Amino acid sequence: MKTIAVAIDGPSGAGKSTIARAAAGHLGFVYVDTGAMYRTIGLAVCRAGIALGQTERIQSVLDSGIQVSLKYEQGVQHVLLDGEDVSASIRTPEMSKYASFVSAVPAVRAFLLQTQREMAKTHNVIMDGRDIGTNILPNADVKIYLTASVETRAKRRYDELTEKGENCDFEEIARDIQERDARDMNREIAPLKKADDAVLVDSSDMTIEEVVNTICSHCK
Ligand code: DC
Repeated sequence: MKTIAVAIDGPSGAGKSTIARAAAGHLGFVYVDTGAMYRTIGLAVCRAGIALGQTERIQSVLDSGIQVSLKYEQGVQHVLLDGEDVSASIRTPEMSKYASFVSAVPAVRAFLLQTQREMAKTHNVIMDGRDIGTNILPNADVKIYLTASVETRAKRRYDELTEKGENCDFEEIARDIQERDARDMNREIAPLKKADDAVLVDSSDMTIEEVVNTICSHCK
């Protein structure tokens, strides 16, 4: 069976997961959040007592036979580390840092590549990440590069956290975003960049609905 693949890449906080999830619902496709897979390896590395920056110790975690898998319940992706559902534990600021750290390691990227490609072979997917259109699915039927200004992304994150009652500092959030952009865009392996044939969508002044409609119309 010929499957259809939609690749959505872009920097942190551009709204990729919200948009991709909604578009997948509209199109009846499976939503694959590849960032969650990097976060899960980050969690395994953190649990192994490895500090940020100790790159040389990461291979031992991969060699220990860890398994990262995805499961879907009512269309919602859950990510499993050795069978344990870690979907909630990977959503902390610390795991954002660990994910960004491990994602620059070639062995980690190689470890996840096959699982990601396999998903697209067996399902119609909307897959989001940083290198989906450039590296994982270079022949994707539709490629979107979704971005937004640093200010917009920081403001969205700030609103999200204050709504949850968390104390946070706008400047610090904006700095974290810029640091993560710099790491993701400047790493040697599979850096974040727009594929030549990707459609650029800047969501800074768009509502979620407008972005979802734009993406769905490209898919149709
Ligand atoms: O999308 P996210 O914030 O959950 O991603 C976490 C980190 O993983 C991010 O800093 C970059 C990395 N990542 C990557 O390098 N390649 C992907 N395909 C997805 C995520």
